[in-house]
Amino acid sequence: MSTAKTNPVVLVTGGSAGLGRVIATTFASAGYRVAIVGRNQERLESARSAIGTTEQTLCCAADLTIEADAVRTIRQVGDHFGRLDVLVNCVGTSDRGAIENLTSERMIDLVEQNVCTTLHCSKAALPLLEESSGVIINIGSLAAKVGTRYLGGYCIAKHALAGMTQQMRLEWLSRGVHVGLINPGPIRRDDEGSRYQSKLDGNIPVEASRPGGGTKVKGLAADEVAAIVLDCVRRRRPDVILPRYLRLLITLGNLSPRLGDWLLLKFSSSK
Ligand SMILES: NC(=O)c1ccc[n+]([C@@H]2O[C@H](COP(=O)([O-])OP(=O)(O)OC[C@H]3O[C@@H](n4cnc5c(N)ncnc54)[C@H](OP(=O)(O)O)[C@@H]3O)[C@@H](O)[C@H]2O)c1
Repeated sequence: MSTAKTNPVVLVTGGSAGLGRVIATTFASAGYRVAIVGRNQERLESARSAIGTTEQTLCCAADLTIEADAVRTIRQVGDHFGRLDVLVNCVGTSDRGAIENLTSERMIDLVEQNVCTTLHCSKAALPLLEESSGVIINIGSLAAKVGTRYLGGYCIAKHALAGMTQQMRLEWLSRGVHVGLINPGPIRRDDEGSRYQSKLDGNIPVEASRPGGGTKVKGLAADEVAAIVLDCVRRRRPDVILPRYLRLLITLGNLSPRLGDWLLLKFSSSK
């Protein structure tokens, strides 16, 4: 599909694989000009072909845990397209393990991947997004809303991301920039099950290697999540939980922590 020079521009971090790649493809199909970021150039090139707008997609190789890389990436997007309308912060890494085995080094690594990458890109993109009255969407997780068992340091990192997203939304509202958080449950993927096998230790059940740490919540399709990201940009929605019925259960759990714990024990892996 060919996109005109006046069409809006989206930057998807982590757009070279997984959910980010599907989000980039969805925005390209909706007429956006697309930029993607990842560390590995080969993966970026293969994503560029998959996205389907080969000549127009800008690939930026960068490690976004490094602030200077994020600044350089945003400058590259500004120079190339002359504008930025949407930033989707999708870089993030999950984890597995019992909390008693979580080291502060691992926790810091997860915060760098899930929080600092988003902070770096959002700060750097703010001037361009102010010009376009644009939107930032941060990709959270159910782990941003509840403290599920056996997810190592993932819940810590995603809860921090959720707090940071709300603070950004409130502080940047008067500057015309909307900041939203999408919290998907487990997403179906080809390598599910094997992805976290090496992280399992004797303290956690084998099913914790499955998406969502073995939760009984049914896996989402990545293109379904991507369509909701696009809808959230259009409607400037603040906070979405997927599947949607879980918002009610999470709200009930916040009202009654005892019930919240009971629901989590019932819906997550057993030991
Ligand atoms: N998968 C799920 O079931 C699920 C569920 C809920 C929420 N989420 C969230 O959705 C997001 C995407 O997850 P995913 O499983 O689809 O991810 P993924 O398949 O592991 O892909 C991660 C992407 O981020 C890039 N990346 C990683 N670290 C980077 C860094 N430091 N700088 C720049 N790029 C980096 C990777 O490319 P390189 O490796 O080449 O850098 C890749 O393009 C994450 O935030 C995750 O927490 C996922």
